[in-house]
Amino acid sequence: MLMILFITLFVRMMTTADPATDVRYAVRELPYGYGALAPVLSEETMRFHHDKHYAGYLARLEELLIDSPLAGQPLEDIVLAADGALFNNAAQAWNHELYFEQLSPQPVRAPSAELAAAIERDFGSLDALCTQMNRAAAGLFGSGWVWLAADREGRLAIFAEANAGNPILRGWTPLLGIDVWEHAYYIDYRNRRADAVAALWSVVDWQTVSHRYARRR
Ligand SMILES: [Fe+2]
Repeated sequence: MLMILFITLFVRMMTTADPATDVRYAVRELPYGYGALAPVLSEETMRFHHDKHYAGYLARLEELLIDSPLAGQPLEDIVLAADGALFNNAAQAWNHELYFEQLSPQPVRAPSAELAAAIERDFGSLDALCTQMNRAAAGLFGSGWVWLAADREGRLAIFAEANAGNPILRGWTPLLGIDVWEHAYYIDYRNRRADAVAALWSVVDWQTVSHRYARRR
C-alpha cells in the first residue's frame, strides 16, 4: 500500500513539473583545488568567490528564469539576449566560468605563437599588454571586468567593462578576464586592487587563453 502511494506521488511530481523550473545551470567545479592558487589567491578567497559569489549568480539566475522565455537556452545565449537582473546574473555566471578556467597552479607562461604575434603587433610586447591591462584595472571605477578580447580577424583589444559587462555584446571573443570586483581580492589584498591584479599574472594559463584565441568567432 505504502509503495503504491510512493509511486503515485512520484508520477504526479513528474507529470506536473514545470519545464521552466526544471532548467539547471550546473555549477562548474574548479579545475584545481581551492587552495591551489595560494598565495596569489588564498583558499578562503576561492571558496567565497566560487561557492558563494559565482554559485550565487547561478542560483539567482535560475530563480529569474522561472516563466522566462529564455529558460532552457544556453547561458551564452541568455547573456546576449537578456537585460536587467537576468543579464547581470547570467553574465556574471558566464564571466566567472571564464575567469576560473583561465587560472592554473601550473600555468603555461607564454602565449601560442599565433597569439604572441598578435600581441606583439597590437601592443608591442606581452609586458606592454599586461601593463595596459593593469592600468585599465586600476582605473576602472567600482566593480567590473577588464578583458583582453579578439575580433574575427584576430585583432586584439582591451575592454574595461562596468559590473557584469562582457565583450561578447560587442561581437568580440573574450580571451582573458580580470575580475576587479572587490570580492575577487579583498580577503587577501584588502583595498590593494593593483597588487591583486599584478599578482594574478603568475597564475594565468596562457594555453587556455591561446585556445580561446584559436577558437574565436
Ligand atoms: Fe567575481
